[in-house]
Amino acid sequence: MQFTFAAAAAVETGALVVGATEGPELLPAAAKAERASRGAVGRALAASRFTGKSGQSVEILAPAGLKVSRLIVVGLGKAENFDAAAAEELTAAALGRIKSGTETEVVVDLTGLKGSKLEGVDLAAHLALGAKLKSYTFDRYRTKDLEERAQTLKKITISTGEAAAARRAFARLEAVADGVFLARDLVNEPPNVLSPVEFARRAKGLAKLGLKVTVLGEAQMKRLGMGALLGVGQGSERESQLLVLQWNGSRRKTSAPVAFVGKGVCFDSGGISLKSGAGMMGMKGDMGGGAAVIGTLRALAARKAKVNAVGVIGLVENMPDGKAQRPDDVVTSMSGQTIEVLNTDAEGRLVLADALWYAQSKFKPRLVVDLATLTGAIMVALGSEHAGLFANDDTLAANLTAAGKAAGEPVWRMPLGKGYDKLIKSKIADMKNIGGSHAGSITAAQFIQRFVQEKTPWAHLDIAGVAWQDGEQKPLIPSWSTGWGVRILDRLVADNYED
Ligand code: BES
Ligand code: MN
Ligand code: ZN
Repeated sequence: MQFTFAAAAAVETGALVVGATEGPELLPAAAKAERASRGAVGRALAASRFTGKSGQSVEILAPAGLKVSRLIVVGLGKAENFDAAAAEELTAAALGRIKSGTETEVVVDLTGLKGSKLEGVDLAAHLALGAKLKSYTFDRYRTKDLEERAQTLKKITISTGEAAAARRAFARLEAVADGVFLARDLVNEPPNVLSPVEFARRAKGLAKLGLKVTVLGEAQMKRLGMGALLGVGQGSERESQLLVLQWNGSRRKTSAPVAFVGKGVCFDSGGISLKSGAGMMGMKGDMGGGAAVIGTLRALAARKAKVNAVGVIGLVENMPDGKAQRPDDVVTSMSGQTIEVLNTDAEGRLVLADALWYAQSKFKPRLVVDLATLTGAIMVALGSEHAGLFANDDTLAANLTAAGKAAGEPVWRMPLGKGYDKLIKSKIADMKNIGGSHAGSITAAQFIQRFVQEKTPWAHLDIAGVAWQDGEQKPLIPSWSTGWGVRILDRLVADNYED
């Protein structure tokens, strides 16, 4: 899809999207259409009980007096409540309507909107971003109905008096959206295709954006003492990998990087503690944390963010096998701490333990954020509305909370504490990899915290409830996988850690 920005031009063909705030108060383009139709548009709005409330829209095909094939009048609600998320959802919803039609072009004209949280250049850019996010498809494995599924819409034009500036603002947002798409693709990809090695191979393609990509194999990880990560992968035919991505965009070449660490379990069968058939479905997405990390690094590189950043992704496949790790095994992590593995299905924390330790020892980061589809328990607590946030640092927690809110990927802080930490005491080793039957997301976070080096500001995002969507699709996410994590992390960096 082509995205263009232009000063309000006469719309000849295709669809036209115009707006009204509550009342309805028609914005200039809507008022113009109403005049051209000699009142027909107004009658249509009245017949549909259109009041301009947010979420309302009226679609008029071949409106009298206008050349366009389709006019969509959307409600913006109260101007003062209209923000970036509302703008994005508005174009996404309008595109959803046009999808079944034959139009190849659409013009969106909300110029003249006043008193909203988002105006001018930012409004134009976020309208385009909504269209972009909604345009995502994953049809690689379909051989049928391709014609019906093909997008007929080729071009979207956003009306704006500041076209050049809007184009620049959108270029930045599009870089982030491309990162989201990469994350969505990786999570959607089936596990017979996306092995740890294949994941790493795809990452190597990002070198062209200026990212430094390094891959460690099992032999190297063994030398580093990564017994926790390697134990998870030892029942798989596929080789485990540690993927390291570096973006050096800061003018201060040696400034400490921000570090992102991702759980990259390409398939989680549970291992010897095998999951049920139903519980295993969707476990191709258990690398969603890793996907968010690679998507973020891609976004930072594509928009040339003025920051030093590093991504570390532990890539493994958790399988049952004669060589697989057993419940009761004890492994030694890179940190030197020993772990009694009482349940091989609590594997994500084992992978993160070594990936986190490596990230801190190697890069001495100014902060580290890990992302993982870590526990079913976080879905019990928060559903799919928030990701779980755990942190040892109030500033980082506040920054993440603000970034999540602004980027449309909200997080909710959960507690940590000594009492919870006690629950992972082992009878024979430094710790065990499961707690009791309660507070499962918190004991998982306590486990991870044991691999956070003193004084490193650290946050952990449990994204098990938000990395994919099994129920109703969210407006901006036309796919099973969501790409969750790229937008919040990009925003975190942009708002706090760039030169
Ligand atoms: N990958 C799962 C967590 C998960 C479950 C993500 C459902 C998304 C949907 C993780 O590896 C896991 O199996 N966790 C166990 C931990 C338990 C054995 C302590 C869980 O949540 O049941
Ligand atoms: Mn598991
Ligand atoms: Zn898992």
